Amino acid sequence: MNKIALITGASSGIGKELAHIFAANQIDLILVACSEEKLIILADKLKLQYNIEAHYKLADLSDIKQAEQLYRGLKAENINIDYLVNNAGFGNYGFFPETDWKKEHQMINLNITALTYFSKVFSKDMISKGQGRILNIASMAAFQPGPLMSVYYATKAYVLFLSEALNNELKGTGVTCTTLCPGPTDTGFVDAANLNNSKLFSNKNIPGAYEVALYGYKAMMKGKAVAVPGFMNRLMVISSSMAPRSIALKIVRKMQEEKKK
Ligand SMILES: NC(=O)c1ccc[n+]([C@@H]2O[C@H](COP(=O)([O-])OP(=O)(O)OC[C@H]3O[C@@H](n4cnc5c(N)ncnc54)[C@H](OP(=O)(O)O)[C@@H]3O)[C@@H](O)[C@H]2O)c1
Repeated sequence: MNKIALITGASSGIGKELAHIFAANQIDLILVACSEEKLIILADKLKLQYNIEAHYKLADLSDIKQAEQLYRGLKAENINIDYLVNNAGFGNYGFFPETDWKKEHQMINLNITALTYFSKVFSKDMISKGQGRILNIASMAAFQPGPLMSVYYATKAYVLFLSEALNNELKGTGVTCTTLCPGPTDTGFVDAANLNNSKLFSNKNIPGAYEVALYGYKAMMKGKAVAVPGFMNRLMVISSSMAPRSIALKIVRKMQEEKKK
């Protein structure tokens, strides 16, 4: 029997590419997101292309009740998850006092609350079986505060800190938790976060979602604690951790500002 992976935010971007990679490795899938049409098309394609089982579950994970319902549903169906990928997430660009609270509240609920809940319940199940892998998607944003995307950066710092601590607690259980921290990646993220004019995404050489997903998949399979795809990104993480916070803030602010038209 194949092992089973649950991927949140599987309808596009990094999550969709991760779904292809798991499927290519003969791992069955539970795909989770809000866009039903995209999930139907993806599940059908993966089943045909890789001869695996792929099911989808619709859930708005910014509503914790829907996350809880999804977990209870899987238990009722006796579905055991071997790999959990907490990938669903989005950002929001703008001057904090003026950005939309409703959108940011949903972001906190999705990026933090749902991810924390799934990490808790699935890690407990995995420990009882003595094996399992969790991949939590943070960001390079996790390593310093981010003016003009302040809530998003703070949510990703939370993801990194929670996941590293969880990975430490899991030692000796057979279960690991890997944090993937991508830099700018070519996905639907830019539109969802209103980032089209940000200097951060103006580089023409930003990697595609497949490259980033494969890096994360390999790191998770090796049980690595933290994975930053891209040599330049790793250099930036090291320099931002060594630079005084006031300098790091100035640099991020400059990168986040809108490019001149
Ligand atoms: N792209 C980047 O530059 C970048 C850099 C660092 C980190 N990341 C992180 O990578 C992860 C994946 O993002 P991406 O770049 O692949 O962006 P994306 O293409 O916009 O994908 C986001 C995924 O999350 C799902 N999602 C959004 N809101 C949801 C909700 N309320 N409930 C359930 N699913 C929801 C979306 O599906 P539906 O719309 O169908 O619900 C979609 O499948 C995110 O956590 C993001 O923060 C991205």
